[in-house]
Amino acid sequence: MKFFLDTANFAEIEESLAWGVVSGVTTNPTLVSREEGAFEPLVRKICAVMQGGPVSVEVLATTAEGMVEEAVRLAALAPNVVVKIPMGVEGLKVVSQLNSREEKVPCNVTLVFSVNQALLAARAGAAYISPFIGRLDDIGWDGAALVEEMISVFSCQGIATPIIAASIRHPQHVQRVAAAGAHIATVPYTVLKQMANHPLTSQGIERFLADWSLSRGEARL
Ligand code: E4P
Repeated sequence: MKFFLDTANFAEIEESLAWGVVSGVTTNPTLVSREEGAFEPLVRKICAVMQGGPVSVEVLATTAEGMVEEAVRLAALAPNVVVKIPMGVEGLKVVSQLNSREEKVPCNVTLVFSVNQALLAARAGAAYISPFIGRLDDIGWDGAALVEEMISVFSCQGIATPIIAASIRHPQHVQRVAAAGAHIATVPYTVLKQMANHPLTSQGIERFLADWSLSRGEARL
């Protein structure tokens, strides 16, 4: 399973790239609204630092015509832009149109909350499909179960469209979607850090250092 970073914060992207584990970025209007500065230069800067890794950028228009126009403009910002299109009837029209252009525009169909929505998005030609698991948990459902079901239906239907498990709130979400076979998990920076750390790892390092300096009292190098 690959990891994407779910953020529009450049410092978080730069820092996590140094870990060698992040291969894409997903943004949304809420995440971008938290950042300073103009939108297009920020998108270009993120795309450049990702060196070809996909960067999802969402449309704001709500009509099919408006979304297509906006998607084409966003895709022109950098070759690795993936346009995020909200699921729905208008969204499906957009994905299908953008997919049948000579210069295809790759689409990440977002705000997916059911297997049926995912089946339609795949059929329309989505490059990625993003089920939102945390938001399902928020209303008392089991969000990770949706990813499990989606993977099993896609596998029995022979659908290869990559599934991006999104709206991830904690490391247990990551483990569950990985066990289900999700292709990608897009995680907030805080969750990525939680995944890397464990209290016993920190305690272990402290104890090794304390034992060494007690018995040897000297630096090794
Ligand atoms: C994914 O592409 C979305 O940007 C994101 O995961 C939404 O997460 P949220 O439900 O925490 O806002």
